[in-house]
Amino acid sequence: MSFTLTFAKGTASQILRSRWIGASTPIMRTLQTSATSHMASTTETNTTTPTTSVSSDNTPAVKEPRNKTFEIYRWNPDKPTEKPILQKYTVDLNSCGPMVLDALIKIKNEQDSTLTFRRSCREGICGSCAMNIEGCNTLACISKVDKDTSKSLKIYPLPHMNIVKDLVPDLTHFYKQYKSIEPFLKQTNPPTNGKENLQSIEDRKKLDGLYECILCACCSTSCPSYWWNQEEYLGPAVLMQAYRWMIDSRDQFGPQRREKLQNKMSLYRCHTIMNCSKTCPKGLQPGAAIAKIKLMMAKE
Ligand code: SF4
Ligand code: SF4
Ligand code: FES
Repeated sequence: MSFTLTFAKGTASQILRSRWIGASTPIMRTLQTSATSHMASTTETNTTTPTTSVSSDNTPAVKEPRNKTFEIYRWNPDKPTEKPILQKYTVDLNSCGPMVLDALIKIKNEQDSTLTFRRSCREGICGSCAMNIEGCNTLACISKVDKDTSKSLKIYPLPHMNIVKDLVPDLTHFYKQYKSIEPFLKQTNPPTNGKENLQSIEDRKKLDGLYECILCACCSTSCPSYWWNQEEYLGPAVLMQAYRWMIDSRDQFGPQRREKLQNKMSLYRCHTIMNCSKTCPKGLQPGAAIAKIKLMMAKE
């Protein structure tokens, strides 16, 4: 899948800028592109070393390098007037792990320590390495590098987010929205005498496909409605978590949770385009969860 990153223009741009970028502290800037037209020149860094292996007669054999070009979005908050660039790096796949995150770490360790990205678990669990790889929002640690060395691999930050530096998006607003749905158990009559909240096996099963969300934001940042309305529209990741608490048999605030979504923007900006479900690296279905919230609200 591929798409062109487009930057909110005119009013939307001004709204975003006024929200995120204080005039006196230009530490972040909005992601600007279609990929090439708004970018300054592309720069290239090329440092590869041949790799060796030991042949059957114990003589070291030099392996033919498998040089792959990575084109990576760069923007430096310390130089806020400079346009973002796509910087080229060459990596020999013979001496690199198989995943995109392996290549990024290798580039950072061996070629350019200023390259900035988030990562933690490298197991698809923490959600921190979410980025746009070859036009698809996904996790770098579980995305294999395409071994075809004739094609370069392009990496951008998650689209339509403000950028802190290079591949690091500012998720402050995303987390505020998550907080707004009160993602925790709420009860008017909690169990007495310190007893635990019991739940049947059937009720527990209803949470499957929801609780696994790692809040990577891949889905929300692939949603056109979220691109243009993220001030007010909660987006698929947060709405799926709202649904997760609505259907938890132990929670007693379902009607109130739905009541908060009863307005034009929070929920109903979803137009069932389903980019969200298509891109989720955990194989979840946030679009379907949103449809189920709408159904519950229609019946009330
Ligand atoms: S639903 Fe999927 S894509 Fe969206 S935040 Fe959760 S894990 Fe990430
Ligand atoms: S289904 Fe709704 S939330 Fe998902 S991408 Fe489409 S508009 Fe966005
Ligand atoms: S590093 Fe944790 S999900 Fe990729």
